[in-house]
Amino acid sequence: MDGTTFGARFAGTVIIALLLAGLLSAGPPVPYSETPPDVVEAMLDLAAVGPEDVVYDLGCGDGRIAIAAARRGAHAVGIEIDPARAATARAKAKAAGVAERVRIVEGDLYEADLSAATVVAAYLGTLPLQKLAPRLAQLRDGARVVSHDFAIPGAVPAQVKRLRTIDPHTDYPRTATVYLWTVPWRTSP
Ligand SMILES: C[S@@+](CC[C@H](N)C(=O)[O-])C[C@H]1O[C@@H](n2cnc3c(N)ncnc32)[C@H](O)[C@@H]1O
Repeated sequence: MDGTTFGARFAGTVIIALLLAGLLSAGPPVPYSETPPDVVEAMLDLAAVGPEDVVYDLGCGDGRIAIAAARRGAHAVGIEIDPARAATARAKAKAAGVAERVRIVEGDLYEADLSAATVVAAYLGTLPLQKLAPRLAQLRDGARVVSHDFAIPGAVPAQVKRLRTIDPHTDYPRTATVYLWTVPWRTSP
């Protein structure tokens, strides 16, 4: 093998290794889907969100959970990777008159600093919650995690609530499940 061929192969191997490392470190993908308004309120009720809370909405979409939390007097931080959705969330917070209590961060929820959160809200999926579980378990004592339709694998919820709702994407009735955990939570085998 001549020097040029060796150099090209070496560079190729390094590029593939970097791509694999990037893929392995990224969190599982999360498609867009909306939490119906009554389910948003059920999530905030279950977490007993009030003016003293700092609510983090992981993958905030159009900001509906963050905005509803701010309407209850809480401070809210929405984290959204899609710039257009983040812009929509900011515009909706402004239109709702709660912009001073809502901060929309354009970024990756898997990298977010959650240390200020007293409540974390999520509508993400089982794999994303599994990836986030170690970080959520390290939230401050008494912090609440509330999730629409997906449970954190291995974490025993403090409460589970089911409600009938209308799916905003199909306009058909369906049952939504809302899970609540309080830190520290019990783990299941
Ligand atoms: C299922 S939607 C939930 C939207 C909103 N929270 C709700 O309940 O209506 C998930 C959102 O997470 C966003 N998202 C996906 N991957 C993300 C990531 N790595 N970091 C931040 N946001 C992400 C998507 O763009 C989408 O808006």
